[in-house]
Amino acid sequence: MTLRTVSELLSQEVTNVEIEIKGWVRTFRANRFIALNDGSTLNNIQCVVEFENFDESLLKRVTTGAAIQVKGELVESQGKGQSVEIQVKELEILGDCDPETYPIQPKKHSFEFLRENAHLRTRTNTFSAVMRLRSSLSFAIHKYFNENGFYYMHTPIITGSDAEGAGEMFRVTSLDPQNLPKDENGATDYSKDFFGKETNLTVSGQLEAETYAMSLGKVYTFGPTFRAENSNTSRHLAEFWMIEPEVAFMDLPGNMDLAEDFMRYVIKYILENNREDLDFLNDRLLNEEKTKPQAERSEMSLIEKLKFVSENNFKRVSYTEAIDILRNCKPNKKKKFKYIINEWGADLQSEHERYLVEKHFKCPVILFDYPANIKAFYMRLNDDGKTVRAMDILFPGIGEIVGGAQREERLDVLKEKMAAINIPEEDLWWYLDLRKFGTAVHSGFGLGFERLVMFATGMSNIRDVIPFPRTPQNAEF
Ligand code: 4AD
Ligand code: MG
Repeated sequence: MTLRTVSELLSQEVTNVEIEIKGWVRTFRANRFIALNDGSTLNNIQCVVEFENFDESLLKRVTTGAAIQVKGELVESQGKGQSVEIQVKELEILGDCDPETYPIQPKKHSFEFLRENAHLRTRTNTFSAVMRLRSSLSFAIHKYFNENGFYYMHTPIITGSDAEGAGEMFRVTSLDPQNLPKDENGATDYSKDFFGKETNLTVSGQLEAETYAMSLGKVYTFGPTFRAENSNTSRHLAEFWMIEPEVAFMDLPGNMDLAEDFMRYVIKYILENNREDLDFLNDRLLNEEKTKPQAERSEMSLIEKLKFVSENNFKRVSYTEAIDILRNCKPNKKKKFKYIINEWGADLQSEHERYLVEKHFKCPVILFDYPANIKAFYMRLNDDGKTVRAMDILFPGIGEIVGGAQREERLDVLKEKMAAINIPEEDLWWYLDLRKFGTAVHSGFGLGFERLVMFATGMSNIRDVIPFPRTPQNAEF
């Protein structure tokens, strides 16, 4: 007799065998049918108890949430809804669960309530499906890069540089806040700090990844990223995971090809490998859609959206073309946008990005060649002197999912750009070295992993696709 998972038992063809299984009770119906789940699949296995054979006091402890062990015979199911079930011969309570205080009842809970109980929410169908998909997508990402000759690189989490230049960083220090060492000007003396300088949690592994691209050729990072931006939105986290490939000798069109191929691959992977969970989330969304007014309903179901993205090319549009579309569109003219687009040079807000993707093009869009002054210093300046080789990928329902660029590989131009925004050359001497010693065209991008998981699962709040979300005023668990 071997210990097996519910998933294995449900897909097993051989019946009338003795089995042993452990899991958590989802429901116990009519003092006879236990629905048991162990996380290996969305589905429960039905365990049938003949109540005459067991103590009443034991059966009383079979409550929703309790951990139990069951031994018995796997048989073809007598009832509808499942192919096999277990005729229980031995039943053991491994861990009781008090029905009075257990928060996860067999009924519909709001996502807000479940967020407050994030340590237990993966005991629900929706969250277990989302987190299995999150795991599967991670695997597919590593698989894609591995199959395509990329090396996985671990970039540091503690850094002394602000890659994005936005200054939205979390400080890392071992100084005592009550007793800060001061220099002669009365400012905090960070030379006395642990690293002898100011350090922060990384906002991106890109700059370090560039150093490896310029030696190993094709690399990627996939790690936690931290931003102290005070954006309390459904698409921002203070701690999120980012995938950042970086490739030597690749230009911007090559970067777009890579991003498209990669995203199509990982979505195809889950369509082929996680169909049960996707079908469940698909139906969940269809039911949710029914409660909305017709005009707000999505034109495609979740599965249709995933198929659409995995089978179609993304639309490539320059920033300048996008501004023209936006300037002349209805919501802009009727002042329906919060931020009205008047001139070339305006930064795009998520309302504009979503208009382009959801209303105008109705497919994923890659916007490129943005004005230099709204993008990071490391992006390659175009010959027009005012735009850079940036690209953002916009997805329906999400907005920006990828940000990337061809990097500035010319030493003199890079130095000028750094000087213009007061980045001291000493801070990034090693980054400048790459432009002195065998510089070359190179490009890369960053994919926000949680935004990908949102798209793949149809979840509308980023807090519901990461196990323990960190957001302003919230770091519980
Ligand atoms: O556009 P971003 O800031 O680009 C970079 O960090 C580049 N260094 C990446 C690169 O070229 N290697 O961030 C990349 C992506 C965004 O498109 C978004 O999907 C995600 O990271 N992202 C966030 N996700 C959740 N919460 C936040 N606060 C995020 N900020 C960015
Ligand atoms: Mg960006």
